[in-house]
Amino acid sequence: MSLLSDSALDFLRSVFSSRSKEDAETDRTLVTLTFAQSLDAKIAGKGGRQLLLSCPESMLMTHWMRSMHDAILVGIGTALNDNPQLNTRLIPEASRPSKLPRPIVLDAHLRLPIDCKLLSNFRQGVGLQPWIFCSSSNFPEMSSRRSTLLEAGAVIFDVPCEDGFLSIPQVLVELYIQGIKSLMVEGGATIINSFLKCSQQSDGFGAPPVIDTIIITTAPMFVGDGGVGYEVGGSKQAEEAPALQPVQTALMGIDTVAAVRILRRQ
Ligand SMILES: NC(=O)c1ccc[n+]([C@@H]2O[C@H](COP(=O)([O-])OP(=O)(O)OC[C@H]3O[C@@H](n4cnc5c(N)ncnc54)[C@H](OP(=O)(O)O)[C@@H]3O)[C@@H](O)[C@H]2O)c1
Repeated sequence: MSLLSDSALDFLRSVFSSRSKEDAETDRTLVTLTFAQSLDAKIAGKGGRQLLLSCPESMLMTHWMRSMHDAILVGIGTALNDNPQLNTRLIPEASRPSKLPRPIVLDAHLRLPIDCKLLSNFRQGVGLQPWIFCSSSNFPEMSSRRSTLLEAGAVIFDVPCEDGFLSIPQVLVELYIQGIKSLMVEGGATIINSFLKCSQQSDGFGAPPVIDTIIITTAPMFVGDGGVGYEVGGSKQAEEAPALQPVQTALMGIDTVAAVRILRRQ
């Protein structure tokens, strides 16, 4: 194992082992929200241009983090823009865990292209079958897209929409039924907003938060006003923002990685 892997693993093990017994043994899918941002909290460049916001050390940490989750979720915006693989290929082969994370895309209208890397990796035997969450039962005109994606190797789940997007609580219920106990949410901006919104303080009393842990990599650069940012909880009221408990901060290469836990709503 390399020194780089050692420090990433030490960081992640200390973050995930510090959960309370109650949270670690919960009967819901534990969610880690993670993304890389600039110093001015942008996650992409102008017009959504993909930016390299992680140095090799923090990128390796992200791949180790993927190996510690049952599934990795992105929105269709990220799937179309970045064509991600959502695998653990940066971990040195000798120490790479054999279990692959399940790729998941929230894609209400089944826009995922069949030549995307997620589907071609599956067809080439180097990735698990991607799961797509959609709302196609509301849109009969999508039945041919559905058949095409199924033929290309996707597994499709239908969930209802809430406020114009797929219902995150319903997605999480289905994932738990399907055996996904830990989910890493990697973005992009709209997905981050939705998951943070679901974890707002005003949503309930004493309820467990939707997000368990947030891990943010911050790169020492500014992107500027044209970049893509995110909103915290979609709320203008600071008291409704999720209450956080700092867990661990580390320097990885030139980036700072901070882990916080979302506290139960009071
Ligand atoms: N820096 C990082 O760590 C990082 C990581 C990932 C992505 N990114 C960047 O983020 C950008 C993409 O962000 P984006 O906002 O355009 O796309 P996104 O968040 O990846 O996907 C948003 C789309 O997902 C679908 N969706 C379905 N259910 C949803 C729900 N409950 N909440 C939110 N979205 C839902 C919606 O499309 P439908 O209505 O069609 O389903 C929605 O428009 C890219 O520029 C990418 O490079 C950065």
